[in-house]
Amino acid sequence: FHVDWDIVTAEKAGYDHFMLKEIHEQPKAYRDTMGSRLDPSGKKVVLNEVGMTPQQIKAIRHVHIVACGTAYHAGLVGKSVIEKLARIPVETDVASEYRYRAPIITPETLVIVVSQSGETADTLAALREAKRCGARVLAITNVVGSSVAREADDVITTWAGPEIAVASTKAYTSQLIAFYLLGLYLAQTLGSQDDAYIAEVIAELKELPEKVERILAQSEAIKNVAEQIATHDNLFFIGRGLDYAVALEGSLKLKEISYIHSEAYAAGELKHGTLALIEEGIPVIALATQEDLFEKTVSNIKEVTARGAHVFGIHSEGHYELAKAVDEVFAIPATLPLLTPALSVVPLQLLSYYASLARGNDVDKPRNLAKSVTVE
Ligand code: G6P
Repeated sequence: FHVDWDIVTAEKAGYDHFMLKEIHEQPKAYRDTMGSRLDPSGKKVVLNEVGMTPQQIKAIRHVHIVACGTAYHAGLVGKSVIEKLARIPVETDVASEYRYRAPIITPETLVIVVSQSGETADTLAALREAKRCGARVLAITNVVGSSVAREADDVITTWAGPEIAVASTKAYTSQLIAFYLLGLYLAQTLGSQDDAYIAEVIAELKELPEKVERILAQSEAIKNVAEQIATHDNLFFIGRGLDYAVALEGSLKLKEISYIHSEAYAAGELKHGTLALIEEGIPVIALATQEDLFEKTVSNIKEVTARGAHVFGIHSEGHYELAKAVDEVFAIPATLPLLTPALSVVPLQLLSYYASLARGNDVDKPRNLAKSVTVE
């Protein structure tokens, strides 16, 4: 009796690729990252790893979020989350730009660096510059004991577990969870939100893992769309507000592993130039999950369908009328608008995965890319 066995196959735990395995590990990553940080009362967040005193938190005048690649996209969501919950102004920068634009960093600045590996050279250099200017640095990282973790003043570890695929999935979504926890923690310390709202966000956070499972159970529908787009060389992602931040990440994911050129556009900005590129049959992935922006996004979708685009729309359950405006739809479970990125990115991850597969690419090891970039 002979069993063919190798360590890599074993580590994939029955999945064809690490990326697919990691996409499916997200419900666990969400649960582990929230873990004991949610007080059993359901009313507050406990972040013992953040050593700032209430006085120090009250002294923060601005927040800078600095990161690269996918972590930068998590930082774009983080900006909205912290501004909405804590009412502190936030800027998000790519690390390789941050240092060279002479950012105004003072001891009243909280600099948040986000890095899956904790070893990215540009991010580490930004961290050092921030410290040199006297700012407090908080790191969100997936690797305990990494350079970023060692040099930061405070560390929120994302408990996503090792991420092997070059294209980041569960690390990104765990970074989003970390931002939700941090935003709530700042809000409860600053008193910027009432207790009932904080409890509501916490209750909705707890529901996310099960909602991700519901999305994953519909992977086949996404695979069908992916196989259609895999035959194209250009496409667009559009969205407004948080949907735009997620569109940027969806577009990056697709470029990284399928090598299909795509652009993510703020839906309202298309008409200021890019609409010229919309022609018959071009696929457009439209995110329309933001309640207050829904009608405006539908208007933007009509601008592209009128020019012959083939639109795949993503909406929250309840907004079934989107089906009338687009060619195909996918519904994500309903949640608070602020939390939708943690759900809406999942179909986009699957879309990239299946498009890469359909094109016969090496999903886990895309050409020219490295998991961790330690040169500037
Ligand atoms: C590389 C990877 C990206 C990643 C980026 C930042 O470019 O290919 O997937 O988002 O580095 O990595 P980090 O470990 O700092 O999150």
